[in-house]
Amino acid sequence: MSAFNPMIMGVLKTFSSVIALRNFLAQQRAENCIGFVPTMGALHEGHLSLVDRALESCELVVVSIFVNPAQFNDPADLETYPRDIVHDLELLSRFESVVVFHPTVEEVYPEDLQWVDLDPGSLGTVMEGSFRPGHFAGVMRVVKRLFDIVEPHQVFFGEKDFQQLAIIRFMCNELGLNVEIIACPTNREASGLARSSRNRRLSEREQEKATIIYRTLKAMRENVHGKTPEELIALAENMFVSSGLELEYIEIVDPHTLQPLTDWIPGSHACLAAHCGDVRLIDNIQIVPLFA
Ligand code: PAJ
Repeated sequence: MSAFNPMIMGVLKTFSSVIALRNFLAQQRAENCIGFVPTMGALHEGHLSLVDRALESCELVVVSIFVNPAQFNDPADLETYPRDIVHDLELLSRFESVVVFHPTVEEVYPEDLQWVDLDPGSLGTVMEGSFRPGHFAGVMRVVKRLFDIVEPHQVFFGEKDFQQLAIIRFMCNELGLNVEIIACPTNREASGLARSSRNRRLSEREQEKATIIYRTLKAMRENVHGKTPEELIALAENMFVSSGLELEYIEIVDPHTLQPLTDWIPGSHACLAAHCGDVRLIDNIQIVPLFA
């Protein structure tokens, strides 16, 4: 048997076993910068923009496709999360120098696996953390486990999940992990709607309605002068009235601590979550530049 046992779709190597992937990467590690893009699949151009960015600075990029049960606090959400591995592999086969890791739950979480849950403190209790209890503990658990498997030099995360990015940075600092976290800009439809695997559950009409999210965020950025954060939030809430979407939260936060702001600071950031039908969508935007 060869050192790795990839299933080959075109030239795309895919691994489902941890050992096979690690054997393969062991041969590559000495000479190549290894990049990593963790995903839950149902890939779209947003995910692919991370792969493009990763290939700019790494010779080899591992893309993981794993719907992580540990980060779903709602079983119905886990159940309906879109899965489309055939299409995912088709999309990834456009890249050279990409390998796919598509493990089973047992492979990621073997019975004898030991882990210590990290507490992200106040980063984890606001916004997504307050509406999705246990979500970030599950994200940290899987990301740490995947880092241990892949041992990447650089990892690429989307700013689309702003709080997740902050919590991953926190985890790396806290555990002293020797990995570079690279933030990639949110990739959007022409309509401004942030690309998301969940968008495929929206009807055409709902996709149109959901554009209110980015229109609101942009309006906040455009109207920042002369308004307090509280006034800007009121403006945003008004825009959602009769939008057909149900606003779950809208916050203006410190980009590092994620705590709500009453006054403007460099990098002030707006984050929101809203329900469009039974689909929950999140988005965010920088309201005040980091450097004036
Ligand atoms: P998933 O939602 O599949 O997203 C995988 C990565 O793609 C994340 O870093 C996310 O921020 C990024 N991403 C998603 N949509 C994007 C867009 N429109 N523009 C730019 N980047 C985008 O996030 C997760 O999976 C999981 O929590 C994971 C980190 C894989 C752990 O299970």
